Amino acid sequence: MMENRIIDLEELPGVGAETARKLREAGFYTIESIAVASPAELCSVGGIGESKAFEIIQAARKLANVGGFESGDKVLERKKNLKKITTGSVSLDSLLGGGIETQSITELFGEFGSGKTQLCHQLAVNVQLPEDKGGLNGSAIVIDTENTFRPERIYQMATAKGLDPEEVLKNIYVAQAYNSNHQMLLVDNAKELAEKLKREGRPVRLLIVDSLTAHFRAEYIGRGTLADRQQKLNRHMHDLMRFGEIFNAAIVVTNQVMARPDIIYGDPTKPVGGHIVAHTATYRVYLKKAKAEVRVARLVDSPHLPEAEVLFKVTEKGIEDVEEEKGRKKRTD
Ligand SMILES: Nc1ncnc2c1ncn2[C@@H]1O[C@H](COP(=O)(O)OP(=O)(O)O)[C@@H](O)[C@H]1O
Ligand SMILES: [Mg+2]
Repeated sequence: MMENRIIDLEELPGVGAETARKLREAGFYTIESIAVASPAELCSVGGIGESKAFEIIQAARKLANVGGFESGDKVLERKKNLKKITTGSVSLDSLLGGGIETQSITELFGEFGSGKTQLCHQLAVNVQLPEDKGGLNGSAIVIDTENTFRPERIYQMATAKGLDPEEVLKNIYVAQAYNSNHQMLLVDNAKELAEKLKREGRPVRLLIVDSLTAHFRAEYIGRGTLADRQQKLNRHMHDLMRFGEIFNAAIVVTNQVMARPDIIYGDPTKPVGGHIVAHTATYRVYLKKAKAEVRVARLVDSPHLPEAEVLFKVTEKGIEDVEEEKGRKKRTD
């Protein structure tokens, strides 16, 4: 595994409390994000001149675990630790090659009501199941940006799985993010929490950001440039990926996309106006409402799994299979 120590920005040469504050305000929360920044990017943060920016970046590169090469055997060793969390649906699991993977980012995208938040709730429950039931005996952290976390829903789902709902709720750590900077800061806080839980023998195996994009989208309407927003989101995704690698945790993020009534025959999973994620996600799952409680999930742009589509249900018990739709259905087009 990789080095686990979390380094504070203040450990960089010439970075005091005030500069650190400005850096964080600009979305630089980790040494890694600074290591991959350009001097010009850092200079745009007030009070940092060109030579100082250069010095800070050099120092960050030495401290951070980025851009380095990992030997093949190390990669193999890390990959051996990859685990999967069941979604609760056999078909959806098979679409994903066995479930939601650790050390990866899975992006759930779809319209309002397509089941993104429901699936997040279900995963926060399922990650706590023993391994032979599709879980990882782990805890979950939820960064909730739209105030849609519902403990009573967790209660329902946990009960349906035969788990003690009170215990399940104790192993889900929820924080509300008030804006995009706060949301990014919470990933840093999540690392500290995860270190603590690891020491206590309750490792975090799932980090949810629901919604990844809502704050970014709202804040950048009519101000700043798309490039600024994209850069910040990139940094955020990078921090999330790091979290996943350090803790061998699955990262699940949601992204609401708009319906396109104007395009009847178009492919709704292709980038549209409101579609802003920087596609650093390893797995991208498009969710769509079908009839009643049935939902369609389509895996798109996956490097090593075929693009395919399955059905599942959102019921009172949670995420379930549609009876007549077991196993994977290949796309015909
Ligand atoms: N307790 C429940 N029992 C059955 N279905 C539910 C329950 N709670 C939510 N749902 C279903 O989930 C839908 C909301 O999905 P949600 O995950 O919140 O969508 P979004 O993709 O916007 O996050 C509801 O419209 C309903 O169909
Ligand atoms: Mg939602």
